[in-house]
Amino acid sequence: MRVTVVGSGFVGQTTAMRLVQRGLAEVVLIDIIEGLPQGLALDMRQSGPVVGFEPHVVGTNDYADTEGSDVVVITAGFPRQPGMSRMDLLGKNAGVVRGVVEQIAPGSPDAIIIVVTNPLDEMTALAAEVSGFPKERVVGMAGVLDSARLRTFIAEELGVSPLVVEAMTLGSHGDSMVPLPRHATVDGKPLVDLVDEATLERLYARTRDAGAEIVALLKKGSAYYAPSASIAKMVESIVHNTEELLPVCAWCTGQYGISGVYVGVPVRLSRSGVAEIVELDFNEDELAALRAAAEGIRAKCADLAQL
Ligand SMILES: NC(=O)c1ccc[n+]([C@@H]2O[C@H](COP(=O)([O-])OP(=O)(O)OC[C@H]3O[C@@H](n4cnc5c(N)ncnc54)[C@H](O)[C@@H]3O)[C@@H](O)[C@H]2O)c1
Repeated sequence: MRVTVVGSGFVGQTTAMRLVQRGLAEVVLIDIIEGLPQGLALDMRQSGPVVGFEPHVVGTNDYADTEGSDVVVITAGFPRQPGMSRMDLLGKNAGVVRGVVEQIAPGSPDAIIIVVTNPLDEMTALAAEVSGFPKERVVGMAGVLDSARLRTFIAEELGVSPLVVEAMTLGSHGDSMVPLPRHATVDGKPLVDLVDEATLERLYARTRDAGAEIVALLKKGSAYYAPSASIAKMVESIVHNTEELLPVCAWCTGQYGISGVYVGVPVRLSRSGVAEIVELDFNEDELAALRAAAEGIRAKCADLAQL
């Protein structure tokens, strides 16, 4: 498998490193800055003998080197600065994502595109439109990350390992993130039996603002360790055809009563992209929250079309 990572900034380079180190694919790292992806790839290859992996990673500024990719991860674009919302990036990053997709799609017409650039849901819709690819081959990464953040906060609150915490967030990568308390468990026990309502609300609010919390601490740029881990998880699911249930920004065609819009839903990924959007047993409140998130994204996509 050949995976191209577009954008060699913090998210792109840590993603490339995770993919090559785990032997998941042959990786091509590309950026507009001359020398940056080449230097990073060279450095990564030199860690191969120490860590013990095959150094299948190259850096380039030329899209010809990305041809025949099975998966394309788009991380190119501007990250948030303190005080910014993801939506503040809409105009600037739309131009970047459009240009990237126009250049990558012709050489890799069978690729699965994983969009990472923010604002995530809208950039995923844009990548699908510009590529013209079947919608099941264009997805966005946000839910794996938001869920990981929530699992971490639950674990820290209860003083347990995050490995025994199961929790999923759906909806948008932003204010209308949809947490699912009824579906969260800690060591197999329902989360709602372990914490009170106020604690739940505090954990969800912190998860919703988790990206901004890191941006404020870093003062320059945004998170990349957990984002790249989440991207690698999605790539692994595609490469190994695991069909593991993951929260993914995917195109809905009637699932949960939602149609014709990209939104975070539970998905099984495979080598052909979205193999299935799984319809979990949601109550009316959960359904309403997911549908509201979808309508918010639809409205933003309409705004984007006016830009
Ligand atoms: N979806 C998520 O959960 C999530 C998580 C973290 C970051 N992000 C987003 O990912 C993006 C990248 O974040 P980062 O921290 O790596 O930023 P960064 O500034 O470190 O890196 C961005 C890179 O993109 C490159 N770039 C810009 N225009 C390009 C183009 N046309 N073609 C190729 N490369 C181009 C830049 O040269 C730079 O190296 C941001 O939009 C950020 O908001 C999303």
